[in-house]
Amino acid sequence: MKRSEFTQIILHHHMPTEPQQTRATAFAPINIALSKYWGKRNSELNLPVTSSLSITIPTKGSKTTLVWTSQQTQDSIVFNGEEIDRHSVLAQGITQFFDLFRPTHRWHLHTIIETNIALAAGFASSASGFAALALAMNDLFAWRLELSTLSMLARLGSGSATRSLWTGFVEWHCGQRDDGMDSYAAPLLEHWPEFCVGLLDIRTTEKPISSRKAMQDTMNTTSLYSCWPEKATHDIRLLKHAIDQKDFSLLGSVAEQNALTMHAIMLSSWPPICYFLPDTIAAIQRVWALRQTGLDLYFTQDAGPNLVLLFLKKDANTVKQSFPNVEIVSIFDDRIKP
Ligand code: DP6
Repeated sequence: MKRSEFTQIILHHHMPTEPQQTRATAFAPINIALSKYWGKRNSELNLPVTSSLSITIPTKGSKTTLVWTSQQTQDSIVFNGEEIDRHSVLAQGITQFFDLFRPTHRWHLHTIIETNIALAAGFASSASGFAALALAMNDLFAWRLELSTLSMLARLGSGSATRSLWTGFVEWHCGQRDDGMDSYAAPLLEHWPEFCVGLLDIRTTEKPISSRKAMQDTMNTTSLYSCWPEKATHDIRLLKHAIDQKDFSLLGSVAEQNALTMHAIMLSSWPPICYFLPDTIAAIQRVWALRQTGLDLYFTQDAGPNLVLLFLKKDANTVKQSFPNVEIVSIFDDRIKP
């Protein structure tokens, strides 16, 4: 099935395919996976090999405003105050996303994006970007879709965007169907007010290889990938148990090992894929040294050099002393400041 057919089915053929108002704004946060999405079973529909489970970082994300005027003849995008070239990767990604919804009605939109995260540096900027776009489209076109249904549309922009429509813990169910109609996200109900993350910005320049290409190359070139589906499935089960029991050591160790397994598999691809920078390794070793002293501190790492530290509120001061540049976010308490 083509993605345009998929969107037609989701929108039931008869939902408005033309904007119903002139302007809509939405914010979506970034999320960090505790058990990663790594590998697609269908790249046309962005269907993952395994389910994944994330935690939302509510203070970081993208605010997107869509403006529609009937005079607009092509899409235009302003990103953090600057008009961007429509041939850029970002503009192409957004235009292709819009194309899914305008097979016959040639509307065009002016998109204004404001984000407080560095693009493509491993802090899941595409997740919040496409989730915010999907939310704003839902409003502009008056689709009134449920969030779990909307998560399937966000998925077409970027897989990790599927999980960026909620706060707290979110699971993306991989689904089994070939048409992808059962591959959506939903929040877990558990609240864990002591849960903190620390954003450790190792470097905010663009990464050497996109996660999309890295995941494809990993699947195609290393036999180690074959152990990933079982590992990820097992880890999600353990993570859900840890969240249910508020067992932080279990959660931290599963999340850290899950990330390291993903990176180990990547390292074994050919050509090798390595997102570690010397400062990443230094920070990882500091985490391990602190853990040796009894601190309940863990990390996770996406497809980039940055780390996300995982710890409880009671240890926030110690973490800040050990990593002076860390940005601490209390996952269930902090909110974006307008
Ligand atoms: C390492 O969602 O960026 O962050 O679906 O191709 O856009 P596409 O990939 P993307 O990959 C995210 C990979 C990851 C793990 C995760 O977020 O689960």
